[in-house]
Amino acid sequence: MKYSCKYDVSMWNIGDIRVDGAAVLGPMSGFTFKSYREFMKPFGVAVSYSEMTSAVGIVNDDGHTSAYVDFDKNYPTGVQLFGHEAEDLAKAASIALETNPNIDFFDVNMGCPVHKIQRSGAGAILMKDPVKCGEIIRRMKQSVDVPITAKIRLGWDSDHMNYRDVIEELESAGVDAITVHARTKIEKYAGSPHYDVIADLQDDMTVPLIVSGNIYSLDDAVRAVGITGAKAVMVARGGVGNPFLVTQIDRYFRTGERLENPTVHEQVEWCIRLAEMILDEKGEDAGIRKLRSIAPKFIAGCHRSREYRLRLATQTVSMENMVSILDELDWKMGMERINSDGRRTYYSLDDCSDDC
Ligand SMILES: Cc1cc2nc3c(=O)[nH]c(=O)nc-3n(C[C@H](O)[C@H](O)[C@H](O)COP(=O)(O)O)c2cc1C
Repeated sequence: MKYSCKYDVSMWNIGDIRVDGAAVLGPMSGFTFKSYREFMKPFGVAVSYSEMTSAVGIVNDDGHTSAYVDFDKNYPTGVQLFGHEAEDLAKAASIALETNPNIDFFDVNMGCPVHKIQRSGAGAILMKDPVKCGEIIRRMKQSVDVPITAKIRLGWDSDHMNYRDVIEELESAGVDAITVHARTKIEKYAGSPHYDVIADLQDDMTVPLIVSGNIYSLDDAVRAVGITGAKAVMVARGGVGNPFLVTQIDRYFRTGERLENPTVHEQVEWCIRLAEMILDEKGEDAGIRKLRSIAPKFIAGCHRSREYRLRLATQTVSMENMVSILDELDWKMGMERINSDGRRTYYSLDDCSDDC
């Protein structure tokens, strides 16, 4: 199928921040930590977010949250906060910005479907009260002088898709951009996102729209933007182990050029580069644990790679050991190109059942 893009998405703004590019790296707890974001940046990421961070944790200085807000001046990087009291969120933003003036903006999580987060009154449950969503943004805007964005879903379930009410409240409170994950809370991460429901939504909005949901290939991105008119797409699961997807999206929306998928050899090199960066940030033990879940994704979707994925997931005990598994694969099938659709089916939904 051929999609055509009727929108120019190469330059847009988050408040006073000029954003150059259409590929946004979505917040993902357990993945979008500092070294992962730095690894992804040169592939063409226009904006990135921290993992979601507890506002109460920052306010109470609980010692676990400081790593989330610690980063160098990079490119528009937002700290994503979750919480349910406007006052906590406003205070957390101000403390975080004092701790790290490199924070370019704050995003508020209004879409997380995980039980633990809902129980605290944060995440997707906030959408049940659109006025409260607006109050949070208004209060945060009074507290800090950087842009504030929000990430929402379509609503609670298919009978309660109140995203338009929420957007209206957010906009009147002065939000600077909104991401819509085109699924309901009940759907979590499963099934096809409902881009048809938000067709041409950008036309009805006063701030930039970013869309999220099943962006695994360039065609997915072109289709999502073509339907909704969004300024950018959010790359989430589809980018883990396929950083070049960001380059494909970035290049297409600048020039119309379609770049081929990378080869297994390139994937192996990128996986090793990321591994070095993760070990540098997290240290050997924690780094290796992360790699067991991330490294297999670099070869997901390749023919005959199952054995190697399993070995990477279960036998990675050191960097040397991971490199030797990858080298063996590279030698066998280095010139094959990865298949984005194969990657889509590989991604088990269990991967994210409890992360956010
Ligand atoms: C493991 C995992 C962790 C996530 N963590 C966050 C998070 O911290 N904050 C957030 O707003 N969304 C989070 N998300 C949602 C993603 O940002 C994205 O909206 C969602 O995965 C839909 O995009 P996709 O279908 O292309 O993966 C997470 C998703 C996954 C799979």
